[in-house]
Amino acid sequence: MEIVLSGARCLDSAPWRDAGELDGAFDIRIKDGRIAEIGKGLKEPSGGRKIDVSGHLLTAGLVDLHVHFREPGHEYKEDIESGSKSAAAGGFTTVCAMPNTKPVNDCRAVTELMVRRSKDVGLCRVLPVGAISKGLLGESLAEYGEMKEAGIVAVSDDGRPVMDAGLMRRALEYARTFGLPVIQHAEDLSLAQDGVMNEGAVSTRLGLRGQPPAAESVMVARDVDLCEWTGGQYHVAHISAARSVELVRQAKKRGLPVTCEVTPHHVALTDDSVSGYDTVFKVSPPLRENSDRQAMLDGLADGTIDCIATDHAPHSGVEKDIEFDCAACGMLGLETAFGIGYGLVQESVIDLKKLVSLLTWKPAQIFALDKQGIGSLQVGGPADIALFNLEKSWTVDREHTISKSKNTPFHGHTLHSKPVLTLFGGKVSHDPQGWLS
Ligand code: DOR
Ligand code: ZN
Repeated sequence: MEIVLSGARCLDSAPWRDAGELDGAFDIRIKDGRIAEIGKGLKEPSGGRKIDVSGHLLTAGLVDLHVHFREPGHEYKEDIESGSKSAAAGGFTTVCAMPNTKPVNDCRAVTELMVRRSKDVGLCRVLPVGAISKGLLGESLAEYGEMKEAGIVAVSDDGRPVMDAGLMRRALEYARTFGLPVIQHAEDLSLAQDGVMNEGAVSTRLGLRGQPPAAESVMVARDVDLCEWTGGQYHVAHISAARSVELVRQAKKRGLPVTCEVTPHHVALTDDSVSGYDTVFKVSPPLRENSDRQAMLDGLADGTIDCIATDHAPHSGVEKDIEFDCAACGMLGLETAFGIGYGLVQESVIDLKKLVSLLTWKPAQIFALDKQGIGSLQVGGPADIALFNLEKSWTVDREHTISKSKNTPFHGHTLHSKPVLTLFGGKVSHDPQGWLS
């Protein structure tokens, strides 16, 4: 069906847009899954629908470089279908799924399964990330070539760091030959030891073992050096420590192919949240002190931090409703990411154009997804579109997540914007108001 979305404020500052920056009230015509026309006063398509969406914000479908969809292996927490629905509810149309599944995504068969399931579900583009090392064991490299053929867009041992510098060197060299970025979960285990939260005044007060911010920054420092030596593309997952941001800032000044992402929870929360021993706030890397959080805001504002990625990590009560020491790390992110980001706009940390870029074309560019037209609103490109009501406040309720899991750290928070319509390849993937049903 041909659709015209009419009158929303359309925002897209992707530098490769043929027609330049888009910012203003426009109509968008969608046909055969693609954007057919962007203009003013577009006619109602014959046999199609024209919908007045004025007063809303319209962007390219959001892009998340970091989610855990738990399929195959842990479908009771999330599967590709429930994860895709959760993504669509957050305005996302492209997500990159980490390989810490069971079995691990370290070979063609698992990558193919994830791609096929994602296509069958058809609510979101789920792009697999392959493992750096076989079985995530940090011992020998996985087969990047066959996984790339099957559809991976990057490699990572996320959830675990690559501790062995020699293996990391080989990973950067090998991935480079396939044009794949290497994503590091930066955590030096000899410094992190068994820390279950950030090391600092709060961990001392709570009597919980802490892990210092240096556990992250020491590994980022090592990796930046390896990146410079090998010429591989290096991406820091879920950056959380002030010192790590400074290292990325310096690496960028030297022109190195180093990028990083920050999660909404490291932007919005601190280790104070852990004070009630609530395991929903247990995450890796841990929530840090306010000075680190402030460094995340500065890094977003000055462009050191390239994008926002959720690290959407669903867990069930079995892993979370137990004592803090034993609970699993991770929290949900997809359904609340835009709202948390919009909070930064309201606090004047970044402007709206910057927020949209951090969630669309900037992440797309890091994994070279822009080549498929992802992350931008282009005539001829895929009709991946998100629509937001910036006037709508709502209170997050863990009992009403679209995800199979309930471990949102933002339960009870009021967010001041809401994704109200998502189209993936021109098809409706989220439409709670029934505009297009
Ligand atoms: O908190 C986390 N949870 N951090 C990770 O790196 C992995 C993730 C998970 O898979 O649950
Ligand atoms: Zn992760």
